[in-house]
Amino acid sequence: MSEPLIKLEEVDFSYGPERPVLVGCSLSLEPGQRVGLIGANGSGKSTLLRLIVGLIRPSAGRIEAFGKPRTREADFHEVRRRAGLLFQDADDQLFCPTVAEDVAFGPLNLGKPRDEVRRIVARTLQGLGLAGYEDRITYKLSGGEKRLVCLATVLAMEPDVLLLDEPAAGLDEQVEARVVEILAGLPQAMLIVSHDRRFLERVATGTLRLAGGRLEAASVV
Ligand SMILES: Nc1ncnc2c1ncn2[C@@H]1O[C@H](COP(=O)(O)OP(=O)(O)OP(=O)(O)O)[C@@H](O)[C@H]1O
Ligand SMILES: [Mg+2]
Repeated sequence: MSEPLIKLEEVDFSYGPERPVLVGCSLSLEPGQRVGLIGANGSGKSTLLRLIVGLIRPSAGRIEAFGKPRTREADFHEVRRRAGLLFQDADDQLFCPTVAEDVAFGPLNLGKPRDEVRRIVARTLQGLGLAGYEDRITYKLSGGEKRLVCLATVLAMEPDVLLLDEPAAGLDEQVEARVVEILAGLPQAMLIVSHDRRFLERVATGTLRLAGGRLEAASVV
C-alpha cells in the first residue's frame, strides 16, 4: 500500500461547546484515489475540508499530510500549497477584479515567472472552455461561470491533491460532462464533496458518507 497523501485519525471538531460536528473521523487519501464525500446539509463535509488545510483545528485527533503530522499554522502552509481547495462558495475563492488576475494569483504567488503564468492561465481557461474570459469581471459572471473560474484557480496551482467542495453545483449538463472528463483525466488524488450521485458515479473511485458526525464507507449507487 502506498503512503497516504492525507490522513485523518480520530478527529473531533466542534464550532462551539454545544454541538460536535465531527466525532472520531478517520480517513486516508492515497495516490490515485478519487473519493466522493456525501452527507446531508450541515453534516460537516465543508468543515472536514477546512480541517485538512488548517483553516480550523481539530479539538482532538491527528492530521497528517504529505507524510508529516500537521498541527501548527506553519505546518499548514505547505499543505495549502500542495492541496488545492475549491471552496463551496465562489466568494471565498475569487477576490480579484478580472478572471485572468484571479487565475494568475496562485501561480504568481508560487513565484512563477509572468510569461509562464500567462501560459498557465491561457491553458487552464482553454481546458475549461473559458477561452476569452480573461478580462471578464469576476463578480459579474453567472453562478456556473464562477464555479468554473474557481476550478480554474485551483487547477492553475497544479496541486498534488484536489479538495473539491461541490465542483458540479450549478453547472449545466454539457459543462458538467466536461468537468467530469477533466477530473477523470487528472492524475491527482481528490476528495470530492457532492450531492449529485450521478456525478460521483462518474468521477469517484469510492465514497464516504458523513452522518451524525461520523465518517463511514458508502456506496453511491
Ligand atoms: N463558522 C461556523 N460557525 C458555527 N457553526 C458553523 C460554522 N460553519 C458551519 N457551521 C455549522 O457546522 C455544521 C457543519 O457545517 P458544514 O458547512 O461543514 O456542512 P456541510 O456538510 O458542508 O453542509 P452543506 O451540504 O449544506 O454544504 C452545520 O451545522 C453548520 O451550521
Ligand atoms: Mg458544505
